[in-house]
Amino acid sequence: MPDELFDLKAGYVTLKNPIALAPMGGITDSNFANEYASDAGLVILGGYNLDERTQQAASEMLARGREEFICKEPFKLIEKEIRAVEPGTAVAVNVRSSTIEPLLMAAEIVKDAGAILELDAHCRQEEMTSIGTGEALLHDIPALSELIRMIKGTGAVLSVKVRGNVVDDIRLAKEIESAGADILHLDAMKKGEGADLELIREVRDSTCMFLICNNSVTDFGAAKDMFSRGADMVSVARGVLKDPGLISQLVSNVKMLQEDMGWYNAPKHICRGEGDLRGLAFCCLPVKQCPVRGKIRELGLTAQEFADLKMDFAKGTMLEYGDSTCFGSLVWCCKISRPCFLRDGVLETLGISDAEYMRLKKELADHILEHARSGKQTKADR
Ligand SMILES: Cc1cc2nc3c(=O)[nH]c(=O)nc-3n(C[C@H](O)[C@H](O)[C@H](O)COP(=O)(O)O)c2cc1C
Ligand code: SF4
Ligand code: SF4
Repeated sequence: MPDELFDLKAGYVTLKNPIALAPMGGITDSNFANEYASDAGLVILGGYNLDERTQQAASEMLARGREEFICKEPFKLIEKEIRAVEPGTAVAVNVRSSTIEPLLMAAEIVKDAGAILELDAHCRQEEMTSIGTGEALLHDIPALSELIRMIKGTGAVLSVKVRGNVVDDIRLAKEIESAGADILHLDAMKKGEGADLELIREVRDSTCMFLICNNSVTDFGAAKDMFSRGADMVSVARGVLKDPGLISQLVSNVKMLQEDMGWYNAPKHICRGEGDLRGLAFCCLPVKQCPVRGKIRELGLTAQEFADLKMDFAKGTMLEYGDSTCFGSLVWCCKISRPCFLRDGVLETLGISDAEYMRLKKELADHILEHARSGKQTKADR
């Protein structure tokens, strides 16, 4: 049953919440998923090796002590494994192959099962990269794009798993999107500790794809940092090995946040340099020199067009009200987490909850980005 608290979809797949189990070769099978990730919105099984060359590479990796799924009949296994995941959780299958045909066969299987195919362009083990699979795909974007186009020809929902900070991530994200992928699964790895939050923000601003992010998430604070830079979903791998209760805890926290706030991945304000373009929903009327100017330019809008776009959206909604606020309308008001008695007084008078206010701001952010990117005119322009 879809959880109505979240409205999360990727093609024909409904995700009940924005927490995922990330793939770990030799570890994340249906048993592991059912035991440690039954609450998750998505479990990603695999990676599975679909052809002889990747199977040989996996055997070599196993021989030097890495865990890997070794199987001579991967298609039968994938079919069985998808069916074995407890109903209610969406399933993706992470795969590698040195040729296209096995990828197309796997895509047909996952499509028939209502699942997602995830192409592994992430594995950096020499045995895989030396045969042109895993991370090697990042260095041949035309070939990667062609694989994506062909897989999408099957109609399967497709995720592409990439490692950040290897190539030009913005170009990569744009090419993956234009080739037709539905989901970008970004390991936001950076040198040293932790995840590259700035990278997530930049990738968010460069693509409309459903964005799953990971790296080093071991508590809700780390997941929230990714959500507030634009991740639609956060996935966890090693953290689950250390803390078997991690996924349940993350799911419970994100549900609470969504109930209270109405927008679990609300962006940061733009002033601090941390907010992605969705943060324009919280920006003031553009009357001063501040970071809003640069963001508006990024979208190819003038200050007047931006103001019209926001006011156009506000008409007929509760955001239209708020005479007593700084700029005369809630449409220019700050995020609910920033304390303000003026805004809160208006919300109370109107009888709007914090969550309802934030849901309207989310719709406003979608409106700004959709209209700016498609070059659509506002009512005021017509
Ligand atoms: C033991 C292990 C095996 C992994 N196997 C795969 C894999 O088969 N395919 C893949 O795309 N990523 C694989 N990954 C990468 C993870 O999915 C994830 O991107 C990475 O570990 C960073 O997330 P984390 O900090 O939550 O672990 C593996 C990671 C680990 C630790
Ligand atoms: S318009 Fe307001 S909220 Fe936006 S960046 Fe400028 S000062 Fe910050
Ligand atoms: S009234 Fe409060 S919430 Fe609205 S713009 Fe001013 S400071 Fe921000």
